[in-house]
Amino acid sequence: MKNIMVTGGCGFIGSVFIRTMLLDSDFKGRIINVDKLTYAGNPDNLADIAKTIPGRYVFIKADICDAEPISHAFDAYQIDAVCNFAAESHVDRSIVAPGAFIKTNIGGTFNLLEIARRNLDRLVLFHHVSTDEVYGSLGDSGLFTEQTPYRPNSPYSASKAASDHLVRAYSKTYGMPVTISNCSNNYGPYQFPEKLIPLMILNALENRALPVYGDGSNVRDWLYVKDHCLAVWEIMKNGTRGETYNIGGRYEMANIDTVNMVCDLLDKIKPRDDQSSRRELIEFVKDRPGHDLRYAIDSSKLENELGWAPLESFESGLKKTIQWYLDSSQWVERVKSGEYLKWVEQHYKE
Ligand code: NAD
Ligand code: DAU
Repeated sequence: MKNIMVTGGCGFIGSVFIRTMLLDSDFKGRIINVDKLTYAGNPDNLADIAKTIPGRYVFIKADICDAEPISHAFDAYQIDAVCNFAAESHVDRSIVAPGAFIKTNIGGTFNLLEIARRNLDRLVLFHHVSTDEVYGSLGDSGLFTEQTPYRPNSPYSASKAASDHLVRAYSKTYGMPVTISNCSNNYGPYQFPEKLIPLMILNALENRALPVYGDGSNVRDWLYVKDHCLAVWEIMKNGTRGETYNIGGRYEMANIDTVNMVCDLLDKIKPRDDQSSRRELIEFVKDRPGHDLRYAIDSSKLENELGWAPLESFESGLKKTIQWYLDSSQWVERVKSGEYLKWVEQHYKE
C-alpha cells in the first residue's frame, strides 16, 4: 500500500487514524484524505499534519457520493488502497433526519466501490470501517461475534449494515480484496461533543446539566480511539481478504457509571470552586427511541489471528481524554462557536 485514500479523515476517528499512520506507524507511503467537511469534519483536527508533512499528506474536499472527484483522485494519486471512514455517524441525528445517512453511508460506499472496481488491477485493498451496532442489541449476557446475524435498529445502523453488505458483495462477486471491521464505542481526543463522553466533559466543565437517557442502564463497550486505529491498520496489513473482524475494548459500562466516572475524574483533576461533586448535574431525560440496551464485542478473532490488544484501559484512556479537552481550549471554542465551519465556508468559496 503506497497511496491510501482515507475517506472522512477530518472526522474524529479518521483524523486520529491519519495522525497515527503518518507519525506513529510503519506506513511509509502517502495518505490522500477525501472529506466533504460536514459539521463533523474539522480541518483543525489535522492542521499540524497539513503543515509539517505536506509531502505525505494530501487533502481533497469532496463528497464520496460524487463520481468525478473520486475517480479523478484515484487516477491522479495512483490510489492502491482505500480506508473508508466517511459516514454520518450520530444515532440521534439519524432518528431525526435519516436521509443523509442513506445517501452517504450507502450511496457513498457504493460510489467508492464502483470506482475501486474500475481500478481493480491496481487495488490492493478496500477496507471498510463499520460498527458493532449492525448486530442490534444484546440482552444481559453474550457477546457479538463475527457470526452474529445483522439486526440493526436505527437508521444509522441500518445504513451501515447495508454498506457492509455491499462491500462483502463486491468481494464475492468481483473478487475485490476487501476487509471489514466492526468496532464498539470509541472515545478520545477530537471527538465532536454530540457524543456521550465529550458532551459530558464539556457540559460538566460549564456546570450544565448532564442528560442521561432513560435510567442510564444501557451498556456500551468502550475503546480508546487510537487502539481502534491501530487495529484497523493491523487488519489492513495482515487481515484475511474477504473477512470481517470485530474490534472492542472488553470494557462494558452502564451509561450512568460512565457519566459518574467522568464527573469523579473531573472533580479530581479540576475541582469545582465549592468542591461539590459534579454528579449533582446529572439529569435523567426521555429515552432515545429504539435505544439498544447493550453492546459487547468478542474481539478474540482479531486478538488470536493478528495479535492485537488494546493499549489503554478505560481509566487511563478516559484520563487522557479529559486532559486533552482541558488542554485544547482553542479547539473546543472553535467547535462550540462554529468558527471552524465559517473557516471552511470562506476557504472553499472560490
Ligand atoms: P465523525 O462523524 O466524527 O466523522 C465523519 C467524517 O466523515 C467527517 O469528517 C465528515 O465530514 C465526513 N463525511 C461525512 N459525509 C461525507 C461524505 N458524503 N463525503 C465525504 N466525507 C464525508 O465519525 P467518526 O465517529 O469518526 O466515525 C468514523 C467511522 O467509524 C464511521 O464510518 C462510523 O460509522 C465508524 N464507527 C464509529 C464509531 C464511534 O464510536 N464513533 C465506532 C465504530 C465505528
Ligand atoms: O457502537 C459504536 C457506535 O457508537 C458508533 O457506530 C456510532 O457512530 C457512535 O456514535 C456510537 O453510538 P452510540 O449511540 O452508542 O453513541 P452515543 O455517544 O450517541 O451514546 C452512547 C450512549 O449514551 C447511548 O446508550 C446513548 C447514551 N446517551 C447519549 C447522549 C448523546 C445519553 O445517555 N445521553 C446523551 O446525551
